[in-house]
Amino acid sequence: MRTVLSAVLVTFLLAAAGATGQAPAPTGLPAETPAQKDARLAWWTDARFGMFIHWGLYAQAARHEWVKKNERITDATYQKYFDAFNPDLYDPREWARQAKQAGMKYAVITAKHHEGFCLFDSKFTDYKATNTPARRDLLKAWVEAFRAEGLRVGFYYSLLDWHHASYTIDRNHPQSAANDADYDALNAGRDMAVYRQYLKNQVRELLTNYGKIDIIWLDYSFPGARGKGRADWDSIALLKMVRELQPGIIVNDRLDLLDVPGGWDFRSPEQFKPAEWVNVNGVRVPWETCQTFSGSWGYYRDETSWKDARQLIELLIDTVSKGGNLLMNVGPTARGTFDPRAQDRLAAFGRWMQVNGRAIYGATQAPDTFKAPQNALLTYSPRANRLYVHLLAWPLGEVVLPGYADRVTYAQLLHDASELKMSTRKDTTWITEDTRAGDLVIKLPILKPDVEVPVIELFLK
Ligand code: GLC
Repeated sequence: MRTVLSAVLVTFLLAAAGATGQAPAPTGLPAETPAQKDARLAWWTDARFGMFIHWGLYAQAARHEWVKKNERITDATYQKYFDAFNPDLYDPREWARQAKQAGMKYAVITAKHHEGFCLFDSKFTDYKATNTPARRDLLKAWVEAFRAEGLRVGFYYSLLDWHHASYTIDRNHPQSAANDADYDALNAGRDMAVYRQYLKNQVRELLTNYGKIDIIWLDYSFPGARGKGRADWDSIALLKMVRELQPGIIVNDRLDLLDVPGGWDFRSPEQFKPAEWVNVNGVRVPWETCQTFSGSWGYYRDETSWKDARQLIELLIDTVSKGGNLLMNVGPTARGTFDPRAQDRLAAFGRWMQVNGRAIYGATQAPDTFKAPQNALLTYSPRANRLYVHLLAWPLGEVVLPGYADRVTYAQLLHDASELKMSTRKDTTWITEDTRAGDLVIKLPILKPDVEVPVIELFLK
């Protein structure tokens, strides 16, 4: 048994070493077999659908969470948002209720975004919610409310910091220089070592003072000229600390440790729909796409590019049909509310998920031997051994499933569990049109059911 286990570990380490065949440099990060990692991530891959929340002072500018950089705003000018921040309608129980009703199983909130403002009561800064008119730790109430609804909780913590006096000015900073030569003068008196310690201290606080944290998003790295990467964040030491403080936690992939074994748990394609299951060197990996309703992450009053319910539901199905998760963002207002457009989209997710959740939770990409018919997406539940055919366009009277004959014992519409008759022949009145051998014909009502995307549930042999 011992030899088997160590053989597995050796294989894993060799695989991690990549093509060079050299053992990776020791990092001190916990070693884990692929099976152990799968088990650690199991709740998350089952959940499939979570809520991202971007909330900070930028909600008041209401024109992008990058407003400070986009408009090159100074600390002095930005201060008005800190002085005015008073989310008097903030009720995280209401947010949690809406997330749950939408069918989401976990949530990740910005404890601190790039602007540097902390929603939580940190010992290491004054730039925090408790010192604004809000006068309280907004994160604490959030964690309690989301847990109370049975949702898993995660923190987003920005590695960038546009307020900390020691954080060196780089190309993404609001006060970035026009000429390369100007950086030295700008950065006189700034010391990343001091900021690095601050960042470590705050991550420690977040992972110590709020109980069990299920996910952490450390965001993000931009190596290269006037950029920042693993040396700036001391990524390996930071990640070691994270794993020590919260052994079960799931960590994103933006610490600039993509080549380090154990340096990340999932890939995070941002506002981007992968064409297939995301892979690294040909090996399928856990992945989660994070998406916005309208383009910006923070509340953006005048954005009109809101995705409609149909596009969003399709995005969720498409993601799961390729073995991924969807983290759908809400940017609450500075009053502390979800604006009506966001509420409307969440409610639409909820209406669909309430009757079709079985095709999403614990579901994944269908086995390769099942091909999707036209205008349809497939998901598959390995546990139930059921296949889900998501009909993006409602067909006329029937749908032909290529090669499915003899593989299905029962078919029904998922949303109302109404039987669908099956045959191996097309049902035509004046010509007898034979289907190809192996095809399965599912008879459908002419009227499209009142469901955004109707789903056929197939019980497989
Ligand atoms: C990027 C952006 C940021 C957003 C994040 C979400 O890193 O800088 O504003 O929070 O992506 O994935």
